[in-house]
Amino acid sequence: MNIYETRRLLDEYLLFHYGQPSEVLPWESGPREALGFPVRTVMELIDLPRTPCEAVALDLGCAVGRSSFELANFGVSVLGIDYSQSFVDAAAVLAREGSMSYERVDEGSAKTALVARVPENLRRDRVRFEQGDAMNLRSDLGDYDIVHAANLLCRLTDPLKLIERLPQLVRPGGQLLLTTPCTWLEEFTPHGNWPQGSTREWLTSLLEPHFDLGKTVDMPFLIREHARKYQWSVALGMRWRRKVEEV
Ligand SMILES: C[S@@+](CC[C@H](N)C(=O)[O-])C[C@H]1O[C@@H](n2cnc3c(N)ncnc32)[C@H](O)[C@@H]1O
Repeated sequence: MNIYETRRLLDEYLLFHYGQPSEVLPWESGPREALGFPVRTVMELIDLPRTPCEAVALDLGCAVGRSSFELANFGVSVLGIDYSQSFVDAAAVLAREGSMSYERVDEGSAKTALVARVPENLRRDRVRFEQGDAMNLRSDLGDYDIVHAANLLCRLTDPLKLIERLPQLVRPGGQLLLTTPCTWLEEFTPHGNWPQGSTREWLTSLLEPHFDLGKTVDMPFLIREHARKYQWSVALGMRWRRKVEEV
């Protein structure tokens, strides 16, 4: 059973991506700097001066699509890919209609009806979504000025399969915007496919032959399970630039 196909996770991610701060976190003492993660993975990592005005972007593990819509502010077209058909279907509804109803769990079976809305200023017409496997992407996917993959790597059974494809997906001079909370779990990734030591060093050794590191940043984020229970995590955020000429 893929948990990302469940109604509970769909509702949780609609709130995570589109919830207003007061809808997500009613507690004044809560960690407000951890809100808005799918917006920040784009805004804090993108290298604007190096982004062409006609940029094309790929958002891998896009879930319900908020970062894909943010990327559309900087490009002519964005493709969001996720393995979960129910996430991709919801993202497509949001692209088409601009909004979608869902329920937020408050506690137990107490729920509140909410509406996820794509902000008016974002170009929904530039974004499309498709179901796909980041470890086995279709061969005609092409290459991109920006590839964004937020919190995907440690949800893959074999992350190396994606990492090895990245140099083909990012154009020379293009940007790779990566985040990972380094939460390696057997339920997603067999132990033998985890990094041996630190995820940062593992990624650096694998990406350095093809990419230059431009930025690293610690990025807190908050996923609400119910009104009194949250997952607070700190993702490692990295921006890499594809080398123009490889040695
Ligand atoms: C932790 S969530 C992160 C979602 C989103 N990028 C974010 O930051 O909120 C992981 C996402 O990766 C997706 N995913 C898991 N395995 C995948 C695969 N093999 N190919 C593409 N997406 C996958 C899940 O469906 C889920 O949407």
